[in-house]
Formats: sequence, C-alpha cells, structure tokens
Amino acid sequence: MTPLLDIRSLRKTFGGLSVTNDVSLSLHPGDRVALIGPNGAGKTTFVNLVTGALKPDGGRVSLNGMDVTRSRPTERVKRGLVRSFQVTRLFKDMTPEEHIACAVLQRMGKAGRMLGRHGRMTDVMTEVGDILDFLQLSGIANVRVREIAYGQQRLLELAIALALRPRVLLLDEPAAGIPHAQTGLIEKALERLPADLAVLMIDHDMDLVFRFAKRVIVLAAGSVIFDGSPQAVAQDARVREAYLGSYAHAR
Ligand SMILES: Nc1ncnc2c1ncn2[C@@H]1O[C@H](COP(=O)(O)OP(=O)(O)O)[C@@H](O)[C@H]1O
Ligand SMILES: [Mg+2]
Repeated sequence: MTPLLDIRSLRKTFGGLSVTNDVSLSLHPGDRVALIGPNGAGKTTFVNLVTGALKPDGGRVSLNGMDVTRSRPTERVKRGLVRSFQVTRLFKDMTPEEHIACAVLQRMGKAGRMLGRHGRMTDVMTEVGDILDFLQLSGIANVRVREIAYGQQRLLELAIALALRPRVLLLDEPAAGIPHAQTGLIEKALERLPADLAVLMIDHDMDLVFRFAKRVIVLAAGSVIFDGSPQAVAQDARVREAYLGSYAHAR
C-alpha cells in the first residue's frame, strides 16, 4: 500500500549542526504515532521540513505517492497534510467560530473576502457548528480568544486543523502549556479523531504518549534511533541512553 506520508533520507543542517540526519519514516491511514526525543532532538525541525516551512538540504517528502519536497506549504495543506504548532498562533481578537469558519473557507478556496459573510453561508456554518460540538467548544463559540482558557485555545487549534480535513495530521506538543489536570480534554479529542486519519504527535507526557500511540519513533540528535511498538521502546538500550544522557546533561 502506498503510504499517505513517506519521508526518505531527510537532511537539514543549521550552521555545522546536523539537526535532521537522514530521517526516513512513513505513515499509513489510521496510524497513531508518537514522535518523542530529548529537547533539541530535532522534532519541531522535522515537522517544519515535512510541512514545507523549512527547505531540506536533502531527501524527499511524498504525500500519497506524489513528491511534494519542493511544494509550497499551502499546496501540501490542500493535499491533506496539516499541522498544529507547539506555541499557539491564534488571533486574540477573533472568536473560535471565526477561526474555524476561516479554515473551512480556506479549504473551500473561498478565502478571506468571504469572512464576515460566513454567517449567512449555511454549509459553512453547519460544518463550523459540527466541529465546535466535536471539540466541546460550542459554549464559547463567540467569545474572543483572549478571554478563553489556554486549554480551550489548544482545542481550538485542533479544531482549525480538522476544519482543513487532513489525511495526515502532525501535532507538535498539542498539550503543551495546559495544566496536567486539563490534558484529558485534548486526549479525549485525540481518541475521537477520524479512524482513517494518520496522526503523528510530538509530546513529552509519557502517560499520554503510551495511551495514544500504537507506534513510537524516537529521535535523538537528529537521527531516528527507534521505530517500533510502545512495549519495546522502554526496553531499548539506545533510547534509555539518549534520555539518560540528556537528563544528565540538563543537570
Ligand atoms: N532556525 C534555526 N537556526 C539554527 N538552529 C536551529 C533553528 N531551529 C532549530 N535549531 C536547532 O536545532 C536543534 C533542534 O531543534 P528543534 O527541532 O526545535 O528540537 P525539538 O523540537 O526536538 O526540541 C536545536 O539544537 C535547535 O537549537
Ligand atoms: Mg519542539
């Protein structure tokens, strides 16, 4: 079966530092993959290369069999490759409803000029309503982002990503900055994502990783050092060494 996302020998250096070192991996429909690794391992850089925010020095990115290594980020989104960010990028004076409507309009190719008139477009509003319901954001649909809790802002980011109807979803620390007691909301949303979507999630919360992932990929110093089952990862000597090494370094 052709993978939805296929990465071959991806490379990137910053100055002399090899941040993405010959990384290869693929995702298939229904995948639930956690990408983990110590701080600075190159996880966010990897996502930036895959989505087109950064240009790789070598290697190839294919989406559903098509080479998109040189395609613009928006082109990749149209082909179903969607990401979320480690740090929120919401507009503080816009509401959840407006954010999601904007994403739906973008996906439909109707872009900015329709925003403001979206309230009268029933197909758009039905879809926005469904997504708000799905992420339990209906109660704050018309509240400005600056007035809603950070946990709900993170849910809104997931909502925006879903409004783009991804086939591959890359989540860069979706629970970052949320009090531990509230990460359950994100986790519940992740559990209910469309079954055939391929999801790759970066996160540091190992409890969340182990509940979510059916496969774990470990990146250390820019290289994939493990790609396998959650059961096997904890036993792997190289993985333990990478984490122990980074903890020792942090101290
Ligand atoms: N734009 C950049 N210019 C130079 N170095 C960078 C840049 N972006 C990231 N790096 C470096 O690349 C390494 C990997 O960073 P990053 O991908 O953010 O790691 P992670 O997400 O795993 O914590 C780090 O050493 C970081 O300092
Ligand atoms: Mg990061």
